[in-house]
Amino acid sequence: MRRKIAAGNWKMNLTETEARELTSAISDKKIPNDVTVILGCPAPYLSLTQALTKSNKNIHISAQNAHQESKGAYTGEISHNMLSSIGVDHVIIGHSERREYFNESNNLLKKKVEVLIENGFQVIFCCGEPLKVRKSKKHKAYVEKQLKESLFHLSSTQLKNVIIAYEPIWAIGTGVTASPAQAQDMHKYIRSLIRKNYTQKTASELSILYGGSVKPANAKELFGKQDVDGGLVGGASLNAESFNKIIRSF
Ligand code: PGA
Repeated sequence: MRRKIAAGNWKMNLTETEARELTSAISDKKIPNDVTVILGCPAPYLSLTQALTKSNKNIHISAQNAHQESKGAYTGEISHNMLSSIGVDHVIIGHSERREYFNESNNLLKKKVEVLIENGFQVIFCCGEPLKVRKSKKHKAYVEKQLKESLFHLSSTQLKNVIIAYEPIWAIGTGVTASPAQAQDMHKYIRSLIRKNYTQKTASELSILYGGSVKPANAKELFGKQDVDGGLVGGASLNAESFNKIIRSF
């Protein structure tokens, strides 16, 4: 059985008060037993949101990035050691915004994934193609390269700690969502790659999330697809009412 996951990615949004209110509004409502909620918080609020959700077993707090080194002279960066020390055990890696604005390459992401898995983290690994690639119908090869170069060096035991998020760049923050059929088609392909590189069992147990303009209005249909195990939600995760609806869309 694969985990059903509703993950929020707050990106660089919210004040501390807003983060507190949003977290409480999510954790105060009973979350369905079979749903895992992950909140991707900005670094300054990790301890706060961690404390607010401590007693709620269905909610995990995630960082949005971590450096590949454990410590050192890297001004402004956050290490996995720091995250462990405050009890955070999930990290989003390879979001398209990190790839684009902070030049994170497949090779760098490989190092990040490796170090995090070795240190006991769950990694939400993002992949997805830009519009130009989708239009040229090379999106599957593009995503395959991202997975091959950053993930497939892991052992099958290590891969158990990875959640894949397929996020077509043309659908992120644009209001344009991949159709449920487009999402399913790519998710099925990703799962087939895992089967090919690992085993049927590994492939059938790994959760693959869809990201890109997920909203209460489309979540049910997307999550209803066979290989879509939930969502990584940006904009709609900043509002308690809409994220709570998405959590209940399985
Ligand atoms: P969006 O963002 O839901 O606002 O499109 C998704 C993401 O970037 O993870």
